[in-house]
Amino acid sequence: METQLRALQQEALDALEQAADSASLEAFRITYLGRKGGRLTAILRQLGSAAPEERPRLGQLANEIKADLERRFDERKQVIGGDTGASGQQIDLSLPGRYLPFGSLHPITQVMEEICAIFEGLGFAVAEGPDVEADYYNFEALNIPQHHPARDMHDTFYVTDSILLRTHTSPMQARIMEKQDPPLRYISPGKVYRCDSDITHTPMFHQVEGFLVDRDVSFADLKGVLTSFSQRMFSSDLALRFRPSFFPFTEPSAEVDIACVICSGKGCRVCKQTGWLEILGSGLIDPAVLTQVGYDPDIYSGFAFGMGVERIAMLKYGIDDIRLYYENDLRFLSQF
Ligand code: PHE
Repeated sequence: METQLRALQQEALDALEQAADSASLEAFRITYLGRKGGRLTAILRQLGSAAPEERPRLGQLANEIKADLERRFDERKQVIGGDTGASGQQIDLSLPGRYLPFGSLHPITQVMEEICAIFEGLGFAVAEGPDVEADYYNFEALNIPQHHPARDMHDTFYVTDSILLRTHTSPMQARIMEKQDPPLRYISPGKVYRCDSDITHTPMFHQVEGFLVDRDVSFADLKGVLTSFSQRMFSSDLALRFRPSFFPFTEPSAEVDIACVICSGKGCRVCKQTGWLEILGSGLIDPAVLTQVGYDPDIYSGFAFGMGVERIAMLKYGIDDIRLYYENDLRFLSQF
């Protein structure tokens, strides 16, 4: 048995010498040192049949040979340099690294953040509200009672009779005013839902609401804030116009147009030859809304506005189909 062990040792050393890459090194390990089918293990199994007085010496010899081979195997492995990962698979350190693409913010998120940053610069605080909203905040508290014709314009998704997906971000006006006393300056970005879908409408879109309540707030304050915002958002010499409009929760109300960013007011396809583009709805908060949240309209007044983020982003980047935002085509998205 001793001869057998010595012969195996010699053979193994020769084989180790021959092993030139990590695959043959691994084959060596399995053949000689493998715990199940390895040849050294096979000899050790016969130890029981050796003469009892010989066993300790033979056992010790076998262990020495094993330790020696293992040490030499490790050395050889270092020399060959074939590193192996946790799985035991060979890793080729010379391969180039794998490219992991960076994600980026969706253009709508970017524009929403930009809108918020401009208003934060004007002293507004940001507050977000729930997408699933009570009928009360979406309509009732905003001077739109049951059966009011203005409800028809909203194409509401109802969850139950009194719960719905908010159709605009205006419910945040009521939610905030109900809990806090003036002076207040807030903007509220978020998703809104309307049962509507074509090139300019998606059933879910984004709005940024804004409002300010204090003593002696006038329409001039509204014009100043919205002019300042639009010029920072688009260009510093941008022209605006305030066009009379109607919302149940503001009085007087105005829609704000900006000079067409494509043709600068000369008239083109995007502005339908008018030279103007509508960007938001606004007005002085209706006294009925102030009364509803417990403010005295003889002391406090305020203004509110709401804008569609998709629309602002379309104008800013010259995008002509709103659906592009939601098709997740990376060729489109990665341009922003
Ligand atoms: N909530 C209105 C809309 O969705 C916009 C608006 C907000 C108008 C605030 C006036 C004041 O159309």
